[in-house]
Amino acid sequence: MKNIKEHSYKISKKDRENLHNHSSALIWFTGLSGSGKSTLANLLEQELHNLKISTFALDGDNIRHGLNKDLGFSSDDRSENIRRIGEVAKLLTHAGILTIAAFVSPFKKDREIVKNIVGSDHFIEIYVNASLAECEKRDTKGLYKKARNGEIKNMTGISSAYEAPENPTLEIDTNKETIDESMQKIKKCIIKKLKYGKLYN
Ligand code: ADX
Repeated sequence: MKNIKEHSYKISKKDRENLHNHSSALIWFTGLSGSGKSTLANLLEQELHNLKISTFALDGDNIRHGLNKDLGFSSDDRSENIRRIGEVAKLLTHAGILTIAAFVSPFKKDREIVKNIVGSDHFIEIYVNASLAECEKRDTKGLYKKARNGEIKNMTGISSAYEAPENPTLEIDTNKETIDESMQKIKKCIIKKLKYGKLYN
């Protein structure tokens, strides 16, 4: 960028990870609205916190009240939403925090951008797969009903596409699995990837 030169700080990401005593990464939950992303992200954060892992959770419904309150649900706005979250997640992972993100993030190219921002070795993608029929049946926020009535435009799964990940780190089927079964799978996957203490040097 013109006239702006990056300043390098003495304390590195690795120094901060060492202080936290574990490696950092971004755990990215993607799936339809109502698929269970936030529920699983919330439970996962509690489990990891109890293991003394430093975490922070970013959630679409929350971030859209603050940092991204200027954005709607057009394709461009969703891309900007996800790009900003990617940058925030990069800062958090550089701070040594195991970051959890729960966003519909329906477009492959946007998830790919996040992966490039944080680095592919720090990106763990969890596809929370629940069918549209199931999400619509749950309709916890009443959004699908509104979308069917034409009160909401660009509703993912109805009037806007959801591009499922082809090769996620982990796929969770919340049509069939209980929350507890899904949690066990996720926890196992994360713990396997986390490195502790100076072991990863
Ligand atoms: S994303 O597509 O840009 O990743 P994000 O995860 O931030 O979406 O926000 C999705 C949340 O906004 C959903 O959980 C739902 O509660 C709400 N929402 C409101 N309108 C829409 C819509 N048109 N499509 C999807 N979600 C919507």
